[in-house]
Amino acid sequence: MENLLEIKNLKITTLRGKNTVRLLDKVDLNVKKKCSFGVVGESGCGKSITANAILGLLPYPLRVSEGSIRYDSKDGERELLRLNKKEMRQVRGQEISMIFQEPMTSLDPIFTVEMQMFEALSFHHPHMGKAEMRERALEMLRRVNIPRPEQTLSSYAHQLSGGQLQRIMIAIALINDPRLLLADEPTTALDVTIQAQILKLMNDLKEQNDTSIIMITHDLGVIAETCEEVAVFYAGQIVEQASVVELFSHTAHPYTLGLLRAVTSLGGESRKLYTIPGIVPPGGQWSQGCRFADRCEKCMDRCRREMPGLTEAAPGHLCRCFLHSGEVEA
Ligand SMILES: Nc1ncnc2c1ncn2[C@@H]1O[C@H](COP(=O)(O)OP(=O)(O)OP(=O)(O)O)[C@@H](O)[C@H]1O
Ligand code: SF4
Ligand SMILES: [Mg+2]
Repeated sequence: MENLLEIKNLKITTLRGKNTVRLLDKVDLNVKKKCSFGVVGESGCGKSITANAILGLLPYPLRVSEGSIRYDSKDGERELLRLNKKEMRQVRGQEISMIFQEPMTSLDPIFTVEMQMFEALSFHHPHMGKAEMRERALEMLRRVNIPRPEQTLSSYAHQLSGGQLQRIMIAIALINDPRLLLADEPTTALDVTIQAQILKLMNDLKEQNDTSIIMITHDLGVIAETCEEVAVFYAGQIVEQASVVELFSHTAHPYTLGLLRAVTSLGGESRKLYTIPGIVPPGGQWSQGCRFADRCEKCMDRCRREMPGLTEAAPGHLCRCFLHSGEVEA
């Protein structure tokens, strides 16, 4: 396989009463080896369910109704959607790790940090001795710049700050040297100075370990700091995709332009300057035309009748908008 992860035509549905409701529509994503790939969009656009689908963690009644997620594992190519529970547990944590959206609730309050780090290690290394596990846990805590790592090992979640907890989550996610890290809003709950530190740390770890990262965020500023490629999600679809340099220099989709105006600059100004008027239409309540039409300043008649396809605005730069499809207004 050329890429580390290839998602093709991924569709996710849920049940509302007796009705099947679409939440994600025909998503294609390729993540190269040793690359950081950004997924950006407002709340409810389908970022987390995409990440959860990769690791087989969609909660019932959500399910993948169609598509394929191929992964180039150490043991050869795997179709992740066809793995059984046991096979998926082997992949999870060892080959692919996830940092979840809520750092404060991701650590178990009744176990020490040491117990939780040992658990992550021993699942994939059942024969590793206590002394070796302790050494590895301390090494990871040092790498994520935790002061007094010995003392931290015997701490409980409530004794640690949000920034420390997030570093520990990263240490646990990386303890088995995964090849792919899914980071779902890893810094949203933290203040801007700590955000910048954590993002720098993730960049450093990526360089040292050759880990690919899927960075999920609602903030294009975070993408600019950390990623090489980016896909912009809107209402369960990809609406723009390009290299980060291309996306920032030749932004095409009106939604991405709105997100750019709303960027919070890292480490400095944290006040939102602009919010796109209106809200993301919920799953299943999408119009037949462009899903952004109600909020778009450039909306044309055609946009309400027809759904724009994802077409090339420039080589390697995909955009779902009639303004960039190369077609004349019908
Ligand atoms: N457990 C669930 N049951 C029903 N619907 C869900 C569930 N989880 C997510 N959804 C729906 O799926 C859609 C996508 O949600 P998702 O959590 O992926 O959004 P997101 O882009 O991660 O947003 P946020 O930025 O708020 O995390 C939304 O319409 C959401 O309401
Ligand atoms: S297709 Fe039309 S409504 Fe949709 S983003 Fe483009 S201009 Fe706006
Ligand atoms: Mg989410």
